[in-house]
Amino acid sequence: MKLRSPFAFVIGLILLISCQHNKINKTMNNANNKADSLINLMTLEEKIGQMNQLMNFVDTLPIESKFYNLIKEGKIGSVLNSFSPEMTREMQRIAVEESRLGIPLLVGRDVIHGYRTIFPVNIGLAATFNPDLVKECAKIAAAEARSEGINWTFAPMMDISRDPRWGRMAESSGEDPYLTEQMAMANIKGFQGENLSNKNSIAATAKHYVGYGAAIGGRDYNTTLIPETELRNVYLRPFKVAVEANVATVMSGFNELNGVPTSGNEYTIKEILKEEWNFNGFVVSDWASIKNLAIHGYAKDSLDATYKALRAGVDMDMCSSHYIENLKSLINNGTITQNQIDDAVKRILKIKFELGLFENPYATKESTLLTEYSKDIATKAVIQSTVLLQNKNKVLPLSKDIKKVAVIGPLADAPYEQMGTWVFDGKEENTITPLKAIEEFLGAEKVNYAPGLKISRTQNKNGFSEAIKAAKNSDVVLLFMGDESILTGEAHCRAKLTLPGYQNELIEEISKLGKPTVLVIMTGVILMVEPYLNQVDALFYGWHPGTMGGSGYVDLLFGIEPPSGKLPMTFPRTEGQIPIYYNHNNTGHPASDESWIRMYDIPEKAWQTSLGNTNHYLDYGFEPLFEFGFGLSYTKFNYSEIKLSKDILSMNDSLIVTAKIKNTGDFVAEDVAQLYVRDLVGSIVRPVKELKRFQRIKLNPGEEKIIEFVLFPKDLEFHNGKEWVIEPGDFHIWIGNSSKASLMSKFELIQ
Ligand code: NOJ
Repeated sequence: MKLRSPFAFVIGLILLISCQHNKINKTMNNANNKADSLINLMTLEEKIGQMNQLMNFVDTLPIESKFYNLIKEGKIGSVLNSFSPEMTREMQRIAVEESRLGIPLLVGRDVIHGYRTIFPVNIGLAATFNPDLVKECAKIAAAEARSEGINWTFAPMMDISRDPRWGRMAESSGEDPYLTEQMAMANIKGFQGENLSNKNSIAATAKHYVGYGAAIGGRDYNTTLIPETELRNVYLRPFKVAVEANVATVMSGFNELNGVPTSGNEYTIKEILKEEWNFNGFVVSDWASIKNLAIHGYAKDSLDATYKALRAGVDMDMCSSHYIENLKSLINNGTITQNQIDDAVKRILKIKFELGLFENPYATKESTLLTEYSKDIATKAVIQSTVLLQNKNKVLPLSKDIKKVAVIGPLADAPYEQMGTWVFDGKEENTITPLKAIEEFLGAEKVNYAPGLKISRTQNKNGFSEAIKAAKNSDVVLLFMGDESILTGEAHCRAKLTLPGYQNELIEEISKLGKPTVLVIMTGVILMVEPYLNQVDALFYGWHPGTMGGSGYVDLLFGIEPPSGKLPMTFPRTEGQIPIYYNHNNTGHPASDESWIRMYDIPEKAWQTSLGNTNHYLDYGFEPLFEFGFGLSYTKFNYSEIKLSKDILSMNDSLIVTAKIKNTGDFVAEDVAQLYVRDLVGSIVRPVKELKRFQRIKLNPGEEKIIEFVLFPKDLEFHNGKEWVIEPGDFHIWIGNSSKASLMSKFELIQ
């Protein structure tokens, strides 16, 4: 049947069917009912088409005939990573105007930390400890993306990552489930808005479900082995919160979890996500991860892989083409049922209805790309994400009256690299590099620029003499070192986490000059920075800062804004300490400064246990270089007088925790007050500290404020391997500005 205006026809039919069933008005507004009605009109092929997501690899218009036909025949429900807004529009037009039922496409894209306005990489955004700001960044990214026809992003990633060797930690919020939850929620609210049908909203994706960040050895795609207690208490937690925040879609991962690949995992998808949590959006596989089921050795062939993915609850196949090729045969031979197909299709159509795609399938009209407002928010994100790790002799902030500044390093003027991993739509010509911003701020005549190294991996010293000359002729040296974007991200993992190329040598040479030196490290991962602490005066961890990196850094370097970023991940002293994270369980032999047996203090032929046995390395002890939550300011904050509203908390009550914070320095500045808890005795061993609340607080010099947090017994809940429990007992509670907070109080939780 050839229809002139399929869209009008579909709506007409939907109305008709609804009338027949006396379900007009209210229920017609309900995406579920609309999806049900539409399913009644669909052939099996069209239904299976909705479950198929493909990328068009030909980057020119008109759409290549094979792809054109697939869309026209209703054999594609979603496209991803289109080459241009024009191509996106054309694909959508074919679906809406030329396919029999006119069902619009979901247009997916990796809008990970910004669209045209690129914000700091996600690990940097987490370092802001500012969910409101992160929500604003996601809102801007959504509006920009929708203005070019994209209606679905594959973000936020909420994989807990405790291994900096894993290149994808750049996309994560780090090691802590609570911080990751807060960032995930902020992103979902920003992308999806109050309502998916708002003209600037796009559907979000909670990914990668689940455990992907626990890749053994930090090598991407690697096996993950996660016990039930840790799966529930650490890795699943952010996803549960995402479902409660109405995330539209969930992406199943590449990893194999305890022997079962996550894209074929009935336990995690069907039982936990869909049955236990009642997730009513849809699950998309990661790229070809259905096909990978056979590569893993979990499926015999493509037919078996299709069966196992559908059985697990994967509703849409990203780029394996297995669903489109095999689902019909599996129906015909009775291996799967129509109901299974209908359930998946209904979930997909429901999101399309919720997004308002049947009414507005195309790009929003107005152009919202890279506005003054988005640039301001991006600058704010750079300022709040950058972490000050050292400031010897108060070398920072710099005076604006400085005569000459040397700007050195391969990242000082690398507009593409500073945008970081997963950038499809940011443009280098819009990027403000550190060099550009410093020249603009001070005047180019005050800047001696010499990169020293062409790119971050350069392995020669050809540029050293010029860099040294620039440094010698300046009052202060600013070093912008780090990684090119491609050295972090998917499949870009590293066993050695030092600055690549000859950057270490360059830092060493410059440090010999004895000039006041500031090092800014620009990367998406965590590098081993201990050696630099003796070589430079000040050290900023600036991440890959995105479009406005230079502007944000200038504000920090010259004290227009004081730093307030905090580490979302523990910084090890050396790779051999990995994994090292603050919220670990206690061992039976906890290490302490007193118990650490230093390698070179051990007498020859000492008896094994004569020195005491605790949980440390002989050479590197047990402490990290910088703890989770750490970050300096130009001022100092003093925390005192922790008070609890009660010493004994009952199960249906709440606990108010207060402390006094005083700004004892000379700068108006913000700090991130953090509240940690320890459950002293549990039916399973509980972590030595867990972040439960945080709050940014701004104080004038000399000012003090009382900060207040409210805790509920539910915040103390954990999974013991069988069920969720809140166990009575004694708790310690701390408030401070890092996970080493020492201001402590106690309470007892009773039945
Ligand atoms: C593979 C990545 O793992 C995933 O995060 C991404 O969204 C898809 N490719 C689509 O590009």
